[in-house]
Order: sequence, then C-alpha cells, then structure tokens
Amino acid sequence: MSQVVVRPAREDDVPAMAEVTARAYHQVDLATYQRSWPDPVLRPPQRHGHWMARTRHVLGTDPRGCWVAEVDGELVGCSLSRVRELMWILSSFAVLPGHQGQGIGTQLLGAALHHGRGCLRGMLASSADPRAVRRYRQAGFSLHPQLLLRGEVDRTLLPVVERVREGSASDVDLMDSVDRRTRGAAHGPDHEPLLAQFRLVVCDRSTGSGYAYVGDNGSPVLLAATNRRTATDLMWEAIASSPPGGGVEVHHVTAANEWAIDVGLAARLEVHQSGYLALRHMTPPVPYLHHGSLL
Ligand SMILES: CC(C)(COP(=O)(O)OP(=O)(O)OC[C@H]1O[C@@H](n2cnc3c(N)ncnc32)[C@H](O)[C@@H]1OP(=O)(O)O)[C@@H](O)C(=O)NCCC(=O)NCCS
Repeated sequence: MSQVVVRPAREDDVPAMAEVTARAYHQVDLATYQRSWPDPVLRPPQRHGHWMARTRHVLGTDPRGCWVAEVDGELVGCSLSRVRELMWILSSFAVLPGHQGQGIGTQLLGAALHHGRGCLRGMLASSADPRAVRRYRQAGFSLHPQLLLRGEVDRTLLPVVERVREGSASDVDLMDSVDRRTRGAAHGPDHEPLLAQFRLVVCDRSTGSGYAYVGDNGSPVLLAATNRRTATDLMWEAIASSPPGGGVEVHHVTAANEWAIDVGLAARLEVHQSGYLALRHMTPPVPYLHHGSLL
C-alpha cells in the first residue's frame, strides 16, 4: 500500500514542483482548449524558469504556505500560497496525472489554507479542471467565470495613448496604493519577481493612476488602476507592444471588467471563456486584471 506524506516544501523541491505543475496544467489545457485552438504546449523553457524563480521567492516569503506531497518518496503534488496584508492567495495547486482523484489535493489545499487562517479575504485563479473547481467551492470560494481575449491586434485601430511612461522599482509605493484600493491588499514583496520578469508601464495623472506589467508578447499580465479610463489606456499601451504578426493573449478578464472586454473587441481580439476567479469574502476587483499566480 502506497504511503502519502504531505510536508513543507523546500528549495531543493523546486525543479520537481515545476515538472509536476507543468504536466498537470498541460493536461487541463489539452482537455479545455483543444476545441478553441489547436496546439496547447507544455510550459516553454522561459516560462518554466520564471515559474521556478517565483516559487523560490514565495518559499522565501511564505515557507509555511508551501507544501508538497510524496508517494513512496516521489514528489507528486504541491500547493503554494502566500499572505499579503490579510489576503490569502493560492499561487499553484497541482497533483501529477495518475495520482489525481485520490484525496492528495484535499490534503495539500488544507495545509495551504491553514497558512491563511488569519486572513479575511482569499483569491485564486482556478483552472477549468472539475476536480479543482470542486475543491475550491467546497472550501467556500465563489467562482467568477473568466474570459480570455486572444488574437492579433489590428494596428490600424490603435488609439494615441498619452502620459503612460515606463515604470521602475521607484513606483512600488504608488502601485501598492492602487492595489489596496482595487483588490484590498498590496503586492508588496511580489513586485520583486514581477519587475524582474516583465516590462512595467505606469500612468500617474491628476485624473487617475495605475500600472500594468506587460509580457514579451504584449499581454498585460497584471493591471490595476483607480478608474476605467486609466485602465483602458494602460491596456492599449500593453497590447500595442505585441509584435506585428504575433498573437496577444489577455487572460483573467472577469465580467466586472467590461472595459477590458471593450478594448479587446475594439482591437478585434476573439473572446473565449477560461477558468474562474475564485474569491472568498470579496467581490471581483475593478478595474483590475489579475496575475495567474501572484493575483
Ligand atoms: C486540482 C487538483 C490539484 C486536485 O488534486 P486531487 O488529488 O485530484 O484532489 P482530490 O482527489 O483531493 O479531490 C478531487 C475531487 O474531485 C472529484 N473528482 C475526481 N475526478 C473528477 C472528475 N472527472 N470530475 C469531477 N470531479 C472529479 C473527486 O471525487 C474529489 O471530490 P470529493 O473529495 O468531494 O469526492 C488535481 O486534480 C490537478 O492537479 N488538476 C490539474 C491541475 C489543475 O487544474 N490545478 C488547479 C490549478 S488552479
């Protein structure tokens, strides 16, 4: 009989955790997206490296929020969570295909939730996997469907965006203020991996402030602003930087953020449905596009 051991994650578990999460998420992508677009890929090397850097970071800030499961000495699952200003955030949750549906995820999620026991609010980006959805709802999270905007930006339609500038570490206080207003908790130390991995653009006008971290393909991977007008300008600035001829993806758009759907439609992107924003004791942040693991 196989023995399951759930224990705190360690630094030397990071490569195995990266492998487990890549394989588990790829399995969900294959099941979910095959009908919408043809070729979901296993996490590419650059994103794999980013994932490992973010995981080392959360192991440093929240060692008691990070757990692994072993079966007969093999690492088969993990849950990674962080607490930011009384907000509990689940960053990764995966069990290797072949070991799923046997109660291992329940134990891992329970351990991560214990880390957030003093928190009023919680948030996580749920995949469409029915096992994950079941776990989150049973843990008391409300499920808000997310849209995904995807396609090539029609460059003839790009508007002129004024007074959006490149950002830097000196903007952290401004960004933390915007986050407290939109999602109720600052990102604090999480700006370190974000600044290392993405381009930052900032808008700080008398009429509104906000920021967006932007991926190489022009995707706004995290965007927050004090009003919709500022958020709209930041999203245009981000997607305008997508390489001509390449596609852009804007993930994690909740129905509450219709301003983002409107920008996507104006740029002639396609709208798809993709997983859920799962929240406890809070409503979907607005205007806000959350990051998949740093939320
Ligand atoms: C989500 C995940 C981590 C859960 O781990 P797990 O070990 O499978 O979880 P458990 O076995 O503890 O719980 C799964 C639940 O789903 C149920 N289940 C199993 N197969 C199912 C299916 N095909 N459809 C619906 N429910 C299913 C199980 O009965 C169980 O519910 P119950 O305890 O109320 O009976 C794991 O399935 C996984 O890695 N999925 C792919 C990656 C993913 O989507 N991760 C979440 C990212 S947000």
